[in-house]
Amino acid sequence: MPLVPMKELLTAAERGKYAVGAFNCNNMEIIQAIISAAELERSPVIVQASQGAIKYAGIDYIVGLTRIAAGLTDIPIALHLDHGTSYEQAVACVEHGFTSVMVDGSKYPLEENIELVRRVLAVARPQGVSVEGELGKITGTEDDIFVSEKESMYTDPEEACYFVEQTGVDALAIAIGTAHGQYKGEPKLDLERLSVIDGLTDVPIVLHGSSGVPDDTIREAIARGVRKVNIDTNIRERFMAAARAALAADPEQLDPRKILAPAREAMIEIVREKMRVFGSSNRL
Ligand code: G3H
Ligand code: 13P
Ligand code: ZN
Repeated sequence: MPLVPMKELLTAAERGKYAVGAFNCNNMEIIQAIISAAELERSPVIVQASQGAIKYAGIDYIVGLTRIAAGLTDIPIALHLDHGTSYEQAVACVEHGFTSVMVDGSKYPLEENIELVRRVLAVARPQGVSVEGELGKITGTEDDIFVSEKESMYTDPEEACYFVEQTGVDALAIAIGTAHGQYKGEPKLDLERLSVIDGLTDVPIVLHGSSGVPDDTIREAIARGVRKVNIDTNIRERFMAAARAALAADPEQLDPRKILAPAREAMIEIVREKMRVFGSSNRL
């Protein structure tokens, strides 16, 4: 079936009180693994492409591969731009066939962030393309930041309420203690803040940096209003572990498919595990 707008998937998730996984893709094997997992779990799914993915694979390949995958299945799939950096890039993704775009204006002052999201919405919404905004700063796990400093970057609930009212955005990414990449220790999430934000807004909430967050914490975040959960690092870990094992077992191997096929199988498993935690399995 054709790609669907992300908003459709998140509205259904709100009704069913579960979250949809948004999995980062970089090549054909990753896209195939994400879609195979969704088919096996009978789960809706979001395939997303970061700046790095677009640079690596190219926007046309990302759209082409995901459209082919969608055309071969009855699973509802949204294709989403992850951490879009500019108005121009978001528009380019809309024009190329993405069904959702994130425009990450979190580094700008509030009013500039609102203005950027509004401009993107003005182009995206008439095309039926969903828009995700971000408020608060989600750091990388490698960033050396003191806890007090980190907390000052968390999403302010009153600001979130104002941001959603002013933009009418379809999904809101918030900062409550998660970070991109591998965590050094166990991440501590400000779940109380999440509940306050959820109580003040009526928008689906997005959790970034979700790899490495314990399953129970993810479940609790979903119970408190998270409807989209972003996963990249956990997929990379499984891909690389399986590829390394295949190479170690057969160092002289000349056929890349002998490395990529087990990597793809390993990715299917982790995506399935995540879908079960998110409660999106058997929702079709
Ligand atoms: O948003 C975070 C993703 O993990 C992006 O990473 O730009 O290296 O693909 P990447
Ligand atoms: P992780 O790589 O930490 O899972 O984060 C993914 C993400 O938030 C993509 O936007
Ligand atoms: Zn992110």
